[in-house]
Amino acid sequence: MNADSKLSIRGVSRTFEGTRGQKTQALLPIDFEVRENDFVTILGPSGCGKSTLLRIVAGLDFPTQGKVLLDGQLVDGPGADRGMVFQSYTLFPWLTVAQNIRFGLRERGMPEAQQKERSDYFIAKVGLRGFEHHFPKQLSGGMQQRTAIARALANDPKILLLDEPFGALDNQTRVLMQELLLGIWESAQKTVLFVTHDIDEAIFMANRVAVFSARPGRIKSEIAVDFDHPRHYTIKTSPQFIDIKARLTEEIRAESMKV
Ligand SMILES: Nc1ncnc2c1ncn2[C@@H]1O[C@H](COP(=O)(O)OP(=O)(O)OP(=O)(O)O)[C@@H](O)[C@H]1O
Ligand SMILES: [Mg+2]
Repeated sequence: MNADSKLSIRGVSRTFEGTRGQKTQALLPIDFEVRENDFVTILGPSGCGKSTLLRIVAGLDFPTQGKVLLDGQLVDGPGADRGMVFQSYTLFPWLTVAQNIRFGLRERGMPEAQQKERSDYFIAKVGLRGFEHHFPKQLSGGMQQRTAIARALANDPKILLLDEPFGALDNQTRVLMQELLLGIWESAQKTVLFVTHDIDEAIFMANRVAVFSARPGRIKSEIAVDFDHPRHYTIKTSPQFIDIKARLTEEIRAESMKV
């Protein structure tokens, strides 16, 4: 298959079995390739299987059929090579910001001084200097998500998997977080798979937007987004942006009607 493929999703389907034997087909077989440094956003109606696909890539769930390869290696469980950020805040509440960020590094046995250097670097990167010793409950939602992103990045994963990470934030904070993540991507180059409900967000950050069909989910279409980097939020009012948005809105509307 694709030689420059970072992540290969090959024929991945998922059927859930209920306790009374009833079956829910969440995903139809999906083939999808993510290239190194791609920023792919995934849009689709509620319940179409987006989180299921992300969880499979994360190794938190398993496909009924098919397989996922990361750098050619079979994904068969969770691993530090994939950094996850979810919508609901998943920080360890008993650890401080710095301790949360250093958690994975400590697990790996990284020397103390290096842990500190890395966590300091990412704390600065996400604008949390001065909050190193705060606990999650002492932070706003946006700050908690910034910590979660810093934690994911500190592990230097091969791919960043984000499932509606800004979904619970107010609009203002959300836009700031989009700019923050995009800025990190622009400077650090990362491969990103990002699920969102927000069409503006999907276009603003991505170089490819994948649209899921209604459940059982499959990738119905894909749109390339080729605005220059660094991107400024003012592109959102450009004719090209508005055109892509109109196309995506129509596609998603058509799928949502089927639900
Ligand atoms: N562990 C599970 N057991 C049974 N069914 C499940 C499980 N996880 C997901 N499903 C079902 O699979 C389908 C897809 O769910 P999923 O959470 O992937 O959708 P989604 O696209 O992320 O939706 P949303 O946009 O609302 O987050 C749904 O019908 C859901 O009920
Ligand atoms: Mg979901």
